[in-house]
Amino acid sequence: MRKQSLTILAIETSCDETAIAVVKARGGFQHPRFEILANIVASQVKLHAKWGGVVPNLAKREHIKNLPIVLARALKKARITHPEKKLDAIAVTAGPGLEPALWTGITCAKNLAEQWNLPGIAVNHMEGHITAVVLPKSKIKNKKSKLPIQFPALALLVSGGHTELVLIKQWLDYTVIGSTLDDAAGEAFDKVARMLDLGYPGGPHISRLARTGSRMAFPFPRPMIHTKNFDFSFSGLKTAVLYTLRELKEKKAVIKKEDIAASFENAVVDVLVKKTLRAIQETNARSLILGGGVAANTYLRAHIVRDVQRSLPQCKIFLPAPQLTTDNAAMIGAAAYFHVLKKQYVNWNELHAHATLDL
Ligand code: KG4
Ligand code: ZN
Repeated sequence: MRKQSLTILAIETSCDETAIAVVKARGGFQHPRFEILANIVASQVKLHAKWGGVVPNLAKREHIKNLPIVLARALKKARITHPEKKLDAIAVTAGPGLEPALWTGITCAKNLAEQWNLPGIAVNHMEGHITAVVLPKSKIKNKKSKLPIQFPALALLVSGGHTELVLIKQWLDYTVIGSTLDDAAGEAFDKVARMLDLGYPGGPHISRLARTGSRMAFPFPRPMIHTKNFDFSFSGLKTAVLYTLRELKEKKAVIKKEDIAASFENAVVDVLVKKTLRAIQETNARSLILGGGVAANTYLRAHIVRDVQRSLPQCKIFLPAPQLTTDNAAMIGAAAYFHVLKKQYVNWNELHAHATLDL
């Protein structure tokens, strides 16, 4: 007889957060339900802020230093004294991400799986951002029934490294139908924040400043908003902000940073929302999932909910809990649950043989 619930320890080191979580899952594919027993994130933001972005080898060194500490804290928080008896699997982010950083997590997961004689699960980082919405405290809008996510579902994933529209026919069946041709949405936020001498990461700073600015002050371009495909491009928008700032400086005009921030945020959100709406229509998606660090943006959340509710009320909207939008390991544990159900275990030696981890 299959166990009622599964307990998974998950590791995430794809960028600048050393994260380990323990999640308890039950309900199978039809009614997946999760409990987060521990969710520890050691952020390296302060370390990388000096450089204005993540330095891969510094991140690697920090992960190696942090992993044993974070592991001990996660097990303690989850009240697990005998991991080999309490856990059912070890999951790890296998890509995409910064190569040196990823391997620290993979090596740690492999060692733990061998030590405790447990199966290992390789999870795609973006898949993790999708499954953040099945974790507790996520918000559901347009809730007409108690049914969980209905398929086909569409995910708008907006992070520091990616901007993607993903069609989900079922759990584990993911097709990227659109992505950015240059900068990711989060990257654009970070770069514009740098131009305005705000801190790193820039997203939260821009978002805070934008609340008091005028969204119409600068008519920044909306790249690819009308193209038929579902791809994005944010580098032209970033350059438009740069040129506007240069012009204002040349004219010795007062630069109202809040107006730049608000107009920029408005342009990004406009493109993301319009393209997502069209993708929902064309794919007949019954659910919309928002994921990735930029999904913490309150203006994006409010806008997408308003516009989908207005024009596509049949589509349910799933928003991750704000604290689970940025990188964490609980979302990796949630994604791993579906792989465990299908017994999709990793062969550690094969994983190590791959030159690149872009899944
Ligand atoms: O998903 P994430 O934690 O890491 C990656 O997988 O890349 O996303 C980090 C990104 C950063 O670019 C950060 O500036 C952005 O998410 N971000 C935000 C907000 N909070 C984080 N962007 C806009 N508004 C926010 N409130
Ligand atoms: Zn991420």
